[in-house]
Amino acid sequence: MIRLEHVTVEFENRTILDDVSCQVIQGETKVMLGPSGAGKSSLLKIILGLWKPNRGSVFVDGTEITDLSERDKMPIRKRMSMVFQGNALFDSLTVAENVGFFLQEHSEMTPREIKERVKECLEFVNLQDTQDLLPEEISGGMKKRVAIARAIAFHPEIILYDEPTTGLDPLNAKIITELIMRLKKERGITSVVVTHILRDAFAVGDSLALMNDGRIIIDGSPHDLVSSTDQFIESFLSEIREEANLLLQ
Ligand SMILES: Nc1ncnc2c1ncn2[C@@H]1O[C@H](COP(=O)(O)OP(=O)(O)OP(=O)(O)O)[C@@H](O)[C@H]1O
Ligand SMILES: [Mg+2]
Repeated sequence: MIRLEHVTVEFENRTILDDVSCQVIQGETKVMLGPSGAGKSSLLKIILGLWKPNRGSVFVDGTEITDLSERDKMPIRKRMSMVFQGNALFDSLTVAENVGFFLQEHSEMTPREIKERVKECLEFVNLQDTQDLLPEEISGGMKKRVAIARAIAFHPEIILYDEPTTGLDPLNAKIITELIMRLKKERGITSVVVTHILRDAFAVGDSLALMNDGRIIIDGSPHDLVSSTDQFIESFLSEIREEANLLLQ
């Protein structure tokens, strides 16, 4: 369970997150929607503990992480993984080396155990045949799957996905949203998925929060979002309103 209480983040007199309160229940997939610059990626950095809010509190599984030292945050951070907006793969390492990188750096596992774990993670994302290739030799959709394989290598309880389907064609986007759903269903993973692609948001989200200008405008079920009469929400949804209604039937 992740809980944010009145989180405010300011940079040089600009308010990036403005009194944000929300929670992500154990095992649920929470989608953060909103236009560019709304504060979605900033919210993930707060949850990961990479940024400290100017005001407010952040709790992960009941532990307040807001004022913890880097060292004290480590055990909590180890339970979380992030799939970054730009994948953040190492260009000079093979697919398998990328997936095993953090296990090598931050675990007590033997090379043989790491090899086994990497194999298992690559099989989960259906990329077992690409382990010796470099990131530049695989497609954008495959890179995203490698990033997911790396994110699950530590067996996290929480995964934060930043724009996991942006820039992908609909077929590859569907492969990614299905992986997100399988991780929830088969492993009980709690996830936060940041996106501005409404179709993917409705596909994976148990609950959806819409952000604008550093604030949460609405936070509720897909049905709450679609039935809102707020003008900003209406205009944000207008593009797929009919589709969203169909999805909810
Ligand atoms: N390190 C930083 N220093 C100062 N301002 C920042 C920093 N990081 C982000 N911002 C500002 O915070 C605001 C929110 O940024 P954020 O990256 O969270 O938006 P976003 O919703 O993820 O947008 P996008 O959809 O484009 O990824 C933006 O106005 C951005 O310029
Ligand atoms: Mg972003």
